Amino acid sequence: MNTRRIALGGIALAGLVAFAASATLSGAAEYKVEDEAIKASLTGKAGDAGNGKKVFLNRKKGNCLACHVVASLKDQPFHGQVGPPLDGTASRWKEGELRLRIVNSKIVNKDTIMPAFHRAEGLHRVLKKFKGKTVLSAQEVEDVLAYVMTMKE
Ligand code: HEC
Repeated sequence: MNTRRIALGGIALAGLVAFAASATLSGAAEYKVEDEAIKASLTGKAGDAGNGKKVFLNRKKGNCLACHVVASLKDQPFHGQVGPPLDGTASRWKEGELRLRIVNSKIVNKDTIMPAFHRAEGLHRVLKKFKGKTVLSAQEVEDVLAYVMTMKE
């Protein structure tokens, strides 16, 4: 009986440690804004466009179609029209400018309704379990960016 309790305690403790580690990992990456762009990869690595497409479509992650039309995704339901169509966006903007817009569009347009996908600071009244966490991880931002970079005219 006692050994079992101790064993369970060990599992709970291991769980806590794992949680603490993932909370740190999902914290906001540091980045430098210059010329209205974030020129360097948030992770130092290139993004994966295939995973980026999944994050882009995922209603609990990017949910980008809630506000944007993308012609190549016409098999997907519900394209919102609150934001501009993203077709050709990678011909209009440089990679660093698009990275900045995904990280935090409010840096270039403080009135935008586009959510900041990688900003942990400055959020008000967030639920405790989301505190210090970003909507998308640094790698997810890079993956979505790699996918958006395929949207050329
Ligand atoms: C709640 C609505 C909303 C959501 C969700 C949203 N956006 Fe936006 N987005 C906008 C609006 C509005 C603009 C227009 C620019 C502005 O408001 O500053 C915009 C602009 C953009 C632009 C610049 C487009 C151009 O060519 O000028 C890109 C790129 C972009 N969004 C990508 C994304 C991606 C990627 C996601 C998902 C991770 C996303 N957006 C989610 C509302 C949204």
